[in-house]
Amino acid sequence: MTVCEYRPGLEGVPATQSSISYVDGQAGILEYRGIRIEDLAQHSTFLETAYLLIWGGLPSKVELEAFEHEIRYHRRLKYRIRDMMKCFPESGHPMDALQACAAALGLFYSRRALDNPVYIQKAVVRLLAKIPTMVAAFQLMRKGNDPVQPRDDLGYAANFLYMLNEREPDPLAARIFDICLTLHAEHTINASTFSAMVTASTLTDPYAVVASAVGTLAGPLHGGANEEVIDMLQQIGSVENVRPFVDRCIAEKSKIMGFGHRVYKVKDPRATILQGLAEQLFEKFGQDEYYEIALEMEQAVSEKLGHKGIYPNVDFYSGLVYRKLGIPTDLFTPVFAIARVAGWLAHWKEQLGENRIFRPTQIYTGPRQQGYVGIEDRPQIWDKQFAAPSV
Ligand code: CMC
Repeated sequence: MTVCEYRPGLEGVPATQSSISYVDGQAGILEYRGIRIEDLAQHSTFLETAYLLIWGGLPSKVELEAFEHEIRYHRRLKYRIRDMMKCFPESGHPMDALQACAAALGLFYSRRALDNPVYIQKAVVRLLAKIPTMVAAFQLMRKGNDPVQPRDDLGYAANFLYMLNEREPDPLAARIFDICLTLHAEHTINASTFSAMVTASTLTDPYAVVASAVGTLAGPLHGGANEEVIDMLQQIGSVENVRPFVDRCIAEKSKIMGFGHRVYKVKDPRATILQGLAEQLFEKFGQDEYYEIALEMEQAVSEKLGHKGIYPNVDFYSGLVYRKLGIPTDLFTPVFAIARVAGWLAHWKEQLGENRIFRPTQIYTGPRQQGYVGIEDRPQIWDKQFAAPSV
């Protein structure tokens, strides 16, 4: 078979066959293993959803209890990982800290046995259990505090908020955070999942798989957009400034953060649910100063760019929810990673089931048959400032 057409960003090119999730971008439908995201948000929990994604079906009561128990048991971090984190600069981005810590797990659990179901199960449990502890620990350590130990009597979402804010969360806040994790758990072959699959296809260890995906999620065109949305709302500052801002972005052809999606051409169903969750939080804990601006943004962008299928994506309202939960802005993307680990692991496991190393081709555009040029005769390529020795 010869495939010659080059599609930038691999748009529309199937990279795998998968039974994990399904998106209908025209109808605004997202399903995990065939179950609508709205149903999971209403009835499931993040850990039950993670089980569904990774093992392919909803767990029985006994299975779910065992899975939850295993995860509680593995939440703590080795003191060497905590010591390593203490050496990170406080000014460093938490996504970089998370990527380093996820990769470091490979040093502690180095035996690689990808054909052993117990190894797979333990790696899944460790990653799901430890990633939230890493995110919370880095947050406290960069403030100069000791990390808070996980609490076995708290559920997954409540325990994370407890470790982060050093106090037990309100039950509504914990439930809403758990739903946010469910909403972010999986989304077909997005950039970070593709990165995870490529890494997995080399048969490396799962910690390297997750570390590579964390690095990919961090970019502002992917998971990093949720942070940028809050910066953008802050910069706009008032409802009156929204339309001039949108007009300027359109004139300058700059991207409006939290809008647009490669697949969705209508409002992302997760954005609709997140907006509802934000409103529940505002009702109980007070309005967010940026919400009116966000509503006006949605209205203005939909009017002006709706014909191109540009509507709010998952990152538009999630930041407003996280702010009410006491999560600092630069932890929004790490929180996205906590959830997406479930999807990455599901794709890792699926990839191992029918693995072939990813090795696409390219269309070469450079010169050929060039002779070797002596050093005295070469044209200058680097800018002078790079060519000068650094002092
Ligand atoms: N603001 C203004 N115009 C946009 C936007 C936007 N956010 N997104 C797409 N467009 C326009 C774009 O200018 C182009 O117009 P034209 O055809 O006239 O040149 C058209 O829509 C197609 O855009 P594209 O960049 O080719 O679309 P893509 O599928 O390559 O990119 C995207 C998808 C999500 C990277 C892009 O919409 C974007 O940069 N959005 C802002 C960043 C963002 O919110 N990212 C989060 C994505 S969802 C969650 C996640 O993946 O983590």
